[in-house]
Amino acid sequence: MFTQIAYGGDYYPEQWNPEVWQEDVRLMQEAGVNRVSVGIFAWARLEPEPGRFDFSWLRQVIDLLWEHGVSVNLATPTASPPPWFSHRYPESLPVMADGTRLWHGSRRHMCPNSPDYRRHAREIVTRLVQEFGDHPALALWHVDNEYACHYAECHCEVSQAAFRRWLQQRYGSLEALNEAWGTDFWSQVYRDWEEIRSPGPMPTLPNPAQKLDWQRFTSDAWLECFQEQIDILREYTPEIPLTTNFMRFHRPLDYWKWAEREDLVSLDDYPEPDDPLWMARTAMLYDLMRSLKHGQPWLLMEQATAHVNWREHNTMKRPGVMRLGSYQALARGANGIMFFQWRASKSGSEKFHSAMVSHAGTGTRVWREVKELGSELKRLNPLLPGRIQAEVAILFDWENWWALEGGGKPANDLVLLPRLTDLYLELYRRNISVDFAHPEADLSAYKLVLAPHLYLVSEETARNIERYVAQGGAFWTNFFSGMVDSSEQVWLGGYPAPFRKVLGVWVEEYAPLGEAESNRVKTVGGKEFACDFWIERIHLEGAESLADFCEDYVAGSPAVTRHRYGKGTGYYLGTSLDRDGLSWMVEHICRESGVQMRADLPAGVECTRRVNGEQAWVFVLNYSKQPVEMQAPAAGVDLISGEEVGGMLRLEPYGAAVIQVKADAGGLIEGAASFIEIHIPTPGDAAAGTACVHLGFLCASRGNGRGTWRDED
Ligand code: GLA
Repeated sequence: MFTQIAYGGDYYPEQWNPEVWQEDVRLMQEAGVNRVSVGIFAWARLEPEPGRFDFSWLRQVIDLLWEHGVSVNLATPTASPPPWFSHRYPESLPVMADGTRLWHGSRRHMCPNSPDYRRHAREIVTRLVQEFGDHPALALWHVDNEYACHYAECHCEVSQAAFRRWLQQRYGSLEALNEAWGTDFWSQVYRDWEEIRSPGPMPTLPNPAQKLDWQRFTSDAWLECFQEQIDILREYTPEIPLTTNFMRFHRPLDYWKWAEREDLVSLDDYPEPDDPLWMARTAMLYDLMRSLKHGQPWLLMEQATAHVNWREHNTMKRPGVMRLGSYQALARGANGIMFFQWRASKSGSEKFHSAMVSHAGTGTRVWREVKELGSELKRLNPLLPGRIQAEVAILFDWENWWALEGGGKPANDLVLLPRLTDLYLELYRRNISVDFAHPEADLSAYKLVLAPHLYLVSEETARNIERYVAQGGAFWTNFFSGMVDSSEQVWLGGYPAPFRKVLGVWVEEYAPLGEAESNRVKTVGGKEFACDFWIERIHLEGAESLADFCEDYVAGSPAVTRHRYGKGTGYYLGTSLDRDGLSWMVEHICRESGVQMRADLPAGVECTRRVNGEQAWVFVLNYSKQPVEMQAPAAGVDLISGEEVGGMLRLEPYGAAVIQVKADAGGLIEGAASFIEIHIPTPGDAAAGTACVHLGFLCASRGNGRGTWRDED
């Protein structure tokens, strides 16, 4: 799928006149651009009136690109129906839970279940593939754009009916639905399918199983839109790969299901430059993207060269940061680096978003960086076949995410992503490569599997984990895991019932702590750590305690446990440890499970490795604003500079090296990052000006999940 590292960006020729197109292709050549995405929001130009199609201008553009060595990700334009469509079919506009119908004039203003939208989308996609399916420039289908961005759920009457059909398919009968939803609670028993609606505005908590099914349905409704386009594109061009651009840890869509349908995972990623942990969060996100198609190369479809314009205050990527971030994507399995967008718009709501060619043209710092990166990437093509090898997997399941945060819980401030991030950071700091895995996936390749807050556990997951541990795997989970089945019905018989055998413990009761409350744990080795948020009364039934609570009514009872099961081990954590405690625990279980770690790199340096048979590429990335001198983690040739590396390696501020080595050469490192020094101004620290903290310390302050995470989407 990749014969060279793809380099380029979203290209909107429809916003410019043909003279500019000529300049564009010349500049693309100058910058080493070999791929652009076209057509993304061009529906109004491709079908100016219902049923009248005009592909001539796009053909001119694609021909021109191809003549200049640029191939295309051809987008289906269905992410923004033209005004004539919304005007003709007003009922295709989406309805929010409170009944508000959204208007057109922006983008993504369509109900996924609208038969008119679906029909017109199929039509334009069919025409597009008939027109361009055999064009030599066509490298990849870019289906739609960021499905379920801006809003995900449509509550219109058409969607209500579609939800009922979806439920009929899932359950077959009302009896089965009533059983699964537990509708005897609060007199919710349904006697007619027509009585069922989406969980819209209600006096208080909705039925949790209904809500969970609505989220499944919402993801599936968009997936159906995707599938309809896939069917058409595969029918005409079975040999052209296809993708749709994903967005971060995007809650509304179950990306496991989505990734199965596409040939390639692609991602749009806009880290907040002002976030001192941006590189750790992108590392985690990139690991997810790589994992969605089980280690296959993925494509960074969009990123900003400098700044976005959709945050309240849009900070700038400093010189060198765009390049460094691009290398980070390659280091974690991407085979292409692309941007939103090629040329900064002069009108429209994104005109102040950065681009490869800015308003000021080419005499700019950004253009120089774009050109330099383009020329460097040409030297990196040898690493295309390299893959990441991970010994640790984190279980991540959208259904669990929806259910866990669905309300009505003992601690409704138990939010998954901040806690997942804290855990990930402990691995990141130790240079441990991490994959994400679905809980029902084959886990046998991993030495250690971590299941943070895996609240919803299907029967298959329970069997999978049991099998994995019995055969020698190490499994770790923590409080409020293994609580409910796929219908959100409690697994009875002592929490966490589906993991009880593997963990060798049962939990009699849990106790969320007050804001000001905390506890401590003492390890068998005599170390003490603070904990807060949640404590539990844990009973051992085969497991041993690795740390006991010290205070309150649980004093002297287990907080962290270990259990030998079959040939493997099950670990359980029944509280929220502080940063040091989490660090101790991760270190402990990684050592016991034989996971390779390394945390002795200079501050701010991240290392990863891609491997292909005997060949390996070691990425050394310096996130600090200071140059670093370090022992080279591997000997070989730095593909960026072309220089031999061995002995000492010097990296400039935000510098990068990609060392091509033999995989069996000594001294290779395994994983990701070391401590990162972060300078954060603190109130009351006027004299010192800044306070210097370590990555881990900072995340401990965010560690209790109580609303310190900025969720921008
Ligand atoms: C997303 C979209 C693009 C553009 C950028 C701006 O990634 O796909 O169309 O809006 O955001 O950052």
